[in-house]
Amino acid sequence: MNFDKLISREGTNSEKYDSRVIKFGTEDVLPLWVADMDLSSSKAIQTALIERVKHPIYGYTGYYDAYFDSIQRWMHKAHGWQIEKEWIAPINAIVTGLNLSVEALTKKGDGIIIQPPIYPPFYYAAKNHGRKLLENELKIVDGKYEIDFEDFEAKAKVAKLFLFCSPHNPTGRVWTKDELEKLARICKENGVLIISDEVHADLVYEGNFHVPIATLENAKDITITLNAPSKTFNIAGIVSAYAIVENSSLRRRFHEIFKRYSLTQPTPISLSATVAAYDFSDDWLDALLIYLKENLEYIESRLLKMPNIKAMSTESTFLLWLDCKSLNLDDKKLEAIFIKDAKLGLNTGVSFGKGGEGFMRLNFAVPRVVLEKAMDQLEVAYQEKFNV
Ligand SMILES: Cc1ncc(COP(=O)(O)O)c(C=O)c1O
Repeated sequence: MNFDKLISREGTNSEKYDSRVIKFGTEDVLPLWVADMDLSSSKAIQTALIERVKHPIYGYTGYYDAYFDSIQRWMHKAHGWQIEKEWIAPINAIVTGLNLSVEALTKKGDGIIIQPPIYPPFYYAAKNHGRKLLENELKIVDGKYEIDFEDFEAKAKVAKLFLFCSPHNPTGRVWTKDELEKLARICKENGVLIISDEVHADLVYEGNFHVPIATLENAKDITITLNAPSKTFNIAGIVSAYAIVENSSLRRRFHEIFKRYSLTQPTPISLSATVAAYDFSDDWLDALLIYLKENLEYIESRLLKMPNIKAMSTESTFLLWLDCKSLNLDDKKLEAIFIKDAKLGLNTGVSFGKGGEGFMRLNFAVPRVVLEKAMDQLEVAYQEKFNV
C-alpha cells in the first residue's frame, strides 16, 4: 500500500478532474471536491477485476451466493450486525435508492425530514418528487454538530419519511447510540419511516463507533439501510449499492419499484469488486484509515497559521468541513478566492443548504504531497486575501 504514490487521473474521464472547467470556470485548480479518492484501490480488487475482464464475454449476470455472503460477513465483522440474505436488496446507486424510496413510500405533498447542511441529493430526493421538505437543521454546540431533537420531534408529527445520513456528510459526525435511540423512538412513535444512508459507515476514525440504526429495537421494522463498498474501497464508479431491509412488507414495496424501473440487473464487475472489497481488502482499509487520519492531522497543523479557517472535528469520511465564517466574506467572494487565488477546487458550503453559509468542504483523500501543495497555495491566498 503506497498511498503516497501520485496517480494521474487525467484522460480517465474522471468527474473530479475533467469537470473542472464546468464547475470552477478554469482547469487551473487542484480538485478537492467530488467524494472519491485519488488513492489506489486494493490489489485484491484490481486482481478480481482483471480476472473477470480477461473472460471475453460480458453478458447478463445474475447475483450469486458469494456476493450476498460477502455483504453478510462484512456487516457482521465491521458493525456487529447479523443480517439475513433475504434482507439484502441490490440497488443501483445510493442516490437511486434515496429517490426510489421516496417514490415507493410517500405521496405528493407528504413531509420528508432531512438534516441540513447535507449532501445535496437529499434535497433533490424530496423536492424533485413534489414532497414537502422538513428541514431539521443541525446546530453547532460547543464547536460540535448536534441534533435539535425538539425540532425533530415537532417535524416528525407531520412527516412520513426521514432521510437520514449516518455518518453525516458534510459534517463528519458519527451519531452516538444515544442519539440514534432518540431518533428511532421519535420515528417509531410518530409512524415515520427511516431511510438510512450509511455509505460512510466504514470510514470512521478511532474513538468513534458507527451503529447501524436498524440494529435498534425501535428502528428495525421501520428502516431501509442503504450501503455500498463504493466510498470505503474507492470504487464509486463501479455502481455497487444495496439496501438492507428486515421488514418483509417494506422490502416488497421497495423491491417493486426497482423492478418497475428495471433497476435490478447487476454488472459482472460490480459483483466481483464487491466480493474482493469485503472479503479480501481488510489490510488495505486499515492502512487507508491511518493514512487519512494523518492527512487530517497534517491539515490541522497547517491551519494553525490560518486561524480564521477552522476545521470542524471529523469523526468519519474523507471530507473536511471548513468553517470560514470568521473571514466575514459572502459566499461568492469566499468561493472566488478559493478558486482564483488559492487555486483550489472545493465544494462550497452553501451547496449543502441551510447552515452551509461560510463553510467550504475539502476532500483530503489525496497523496500527502498534493495536500502539501494545496496547503501552501491556501496559505499564500490567506496571507494576501484573507488576512486583511
Ligand atoms: C452520503 C452520501 N450518499 C450517497 C453518495 C453517492 O452514492 P452513489 O454514488 O452510490 O449514489 C455520496 C457521495 O458522496 C454520499 O456522500
